[in-house]
Amino acid sequence: MMRELLLIGAGGFSREMAEAVRAINAVQPTWLLRGYLDDSPALHGAQVGGLPVLGSIELVHDHPEAALVLTTGRPDNYVSRRLIAERLGFDDDRYATIVHPTATVGVTCRVAAGSVLLAHADLTANVVVGRHVAVMPQVVLPHDVRVDDYATLASGVRLGGACHVAEEAYIGAAACLRERITIGARAMVGMGSLVTRDVPSERLWLGSPARDVDRAPLPTVLQESA
Ligand SMILES: CC(C)(COP(=O)(O)OP(=O)(O)OC[C@H]1O[C@@H](n2cnc3c(N)ncnc32)[C@H](O)[C@@H]1OP(=O)(O)O)[C@@H](O)C(=O)NCCC(=O)NCCS
Repeated sequence: MMRELLLIGAGGFSREMAEAVRAINAVQPTWLLRGYLDDSPALHGAQVGGLPVLGSIELVHDHPEAALVLTTGRPDNYVSRRLIAERLGFDDDRYATIVHPTATVGVTCRVAAGSVLLAHADLTANVVVGRHVAVMPQVVLPHDVRVDDYATLASGVRLGGACHVAEEAYIGAAACLRERITIGARAMVGMGSLVTRDVPSERLWLGSPARDVDRAPLPTVLQESA
């Protein structure tokens, strides 16, 4: 039976998510995708990527049967999914796990509630992905990688074997990590970086080879909308 689905957020990632859900439904009708909830009043009533923005996030309580996915995560607001999940306070079974049909997930891999694998993401062997993790297109997670809750891996990220991405960390597009590297909680790695050393928590590292830059790594906009 198809289950209702609401996307929390109405930005670019949300539209990507809607496309992933359509691709899933084309293979096997699974989700009744109702639209988005977003706290930006300017979006309320608008059509975004062919779906309506139904109203603010609080409206979720009017749809108790609907599964949810948190689809926020701009580079300048990458802790937003944790903030929204804490505010809503739902159990894991309220959240859908969305895996695009072209993603590959080895049978020894695990992906927790609320996480998303977009097109052509590859999880090879013994990969563990936590809750509300965003894995963008063409990310490769090889053997023994662990990605903790609320982390974001932008498109084309390449991790070496047994890397560990701690909670709420953000890895920019096409960054590449040597094997067994740890990225600390809420740390950010800039796009295109080549990471050869562990990155401490709450630091911003950039470049090739990546180095600490003396700038605030945390999002400057701690808002909850996409
Ligand atoms: C790291 C990042 C957050 C810095 O953004 P910012 O604070 O706006 O930085 P600026 O653009 O002001 O650049 C500051 C300096 O850092 C340099 N820089 C920025 N990003 C860099 C990167 N990834 N690697 C190397 N140098 C970088 C800039 O060239 C600039 O150098 P300059 O002062 O010598 O000209 C951003 O560049 C980034 O990588 N974001 C992730 C983007 C991404 O992956 N998006 C995908 C999802 S949509």
